[in-house]
Amino acid sequence: MTSRETIARELTKARERTLRLVAFDDAELGRQYSPLMSPLLWDLAHIGQQEELWLLRDGDPRRPGMLAPDVERLYDAFVNSRASRVDLPLLPPSDARAYCGTVREKVLDTLDALPDDDPGFNFALVISHENQHDETMLQALNLRAGPPLLDSGAALPAGRPGVAGTSVLVPGGEFVLGVDAVTEPHSLDNERPAHVVDVPAFRIGRVPVTNAEWREFVDDGGYDERRWWSDRGWAHRTEADLSAPQFWNLSVDLVGTRTRFGHVEQIPPDEPVQHVTYFEAEAYAAWAGARLPTEVEWEKACAWDPALGARRRYPWGSSEPTAALANLGGDARRPAPVGAYPAGASAYGAEQMLGDVWEWTSSPLRPWPGFTPMIYDRYTQPFFDGDYQVLRGGSWAVAAGILRPSFRNWDHPVRRQIFAGVRLAWDT
Ligand code: AVJ
Ligand code: FE
Repeated sequence: MTSRETIARELTKARERTLRLVAFDDAELGRQYSPLMSPLLWDLAHIGQQEELWLLRDGDPRRPGMLAPDVERLYDAFVNSRASRVDLPLLPPSDARAYCGTVREKVLDTLDALPDDDPGFNFALVISHENQHDETMLQALNLRAGPPLLDSGAALPAGRPGVAGTSVLVPGGEFVLGVDAVTEPHSLDNERPAHVVDVPAFRIGRVPVTNAEWREFVDDGGYDERRWWSDRGWAHRTEADLSAPQFWNLSVDLVGTRTRFGHVEQIPPDEPVQHVTYFEAEAYAAWAGARLPTEVEWEKACAWDPALGARRRYPWGSSEPTAALANLGGDARRPAPVGAYPAGASAYGAEQMLGDVWEWTSSPLRPWPGFTPMIYDRYTQPFFDGDYQVLRGGSWAVAAGILRPSFRNWDHPVRRQIFAGVRLAWDT
């Protein structure tokens, strides 16, 4: 099924990416850029600790590991809040790197012994976990004040005029929501099981909402008009004094610019807006005479092929993602302009469904019927009862190898350091 070579390659690619994100001096790695984020040093050793747990100790923390129990506890995300991690006696960078390296050597030995017909689910879980932390580390670096540590990103394809603000029709009818181990052996617990749902007709944005469109909302006084906001949204907008997306510079001399990984630049009008809360997304949608899609609508628009009566593996079909199909992998450091990926369109004509920006949906995080926790049983389940909205589609920072149309992300509705934007929907 999944070859050992593919798993080894994905493990290596993730690790190279992680190491590039910690290629800074020791003092830098211990800094807290924001109470919302961990010091980079915490993510580094946590990546190794999780890899050791799932691949070398069968997920059983009582099995002896390489770290002393009190050290291992420092990297338990449920024990230590992000805000508190800067004050923990974390492993120094050289020890953290050595630990991760030792774990990885043993993991590659374990991989050699994987039977040919084993899909290697736990390996895929670990690959996904490391790549997700790489995105988290990028969020942290984006919040860092001062001169840039990272370059401003690789070149991207040009957009197409005329696509912003347009929509596509998704006719009503049943489709298969979610996936199974048979079709997607590396899918995580929250994506399963596949099941048939009936979805009334709706329209969905061909592309995400752009900075230029968001600017109109700002200029029209959208942030100051109570009627566009939900009760909770308005309370948050008031308390947090929101008046524009995060990282849009508000001072008079910098108007029209944003700061991205420490680079101050003009806000590109045709790029999907990033760094808005769920509450802002809701308000924007109301102002635009639209609403946010449910995650079920989103997945149908992304993955269903009505001519085939079956799901596609990717919006565009079955071929693996490439730089011509979607903006993924993190090197761009920003979303691509709308219309940049016509070849990546879904069966219904929705573009940029994967990559660019995470898209807020109107759905709170809930299990699909028949949900069964995976070996990492605290990956999703503890969050079903919390205040989390689902985000779909992945951002430019997501690794291509871990993303699927069924992939579900979630966060608190007030968060906006994540690479999140908006796609609108409408009843027909
Ligand atoms: C799925 C992105 C919400 O970062 O909290 C990382 C991923 N889980 N380590 C998160 C995760 C455990 C998770 N999200
Ligand atoms: Fe984690």
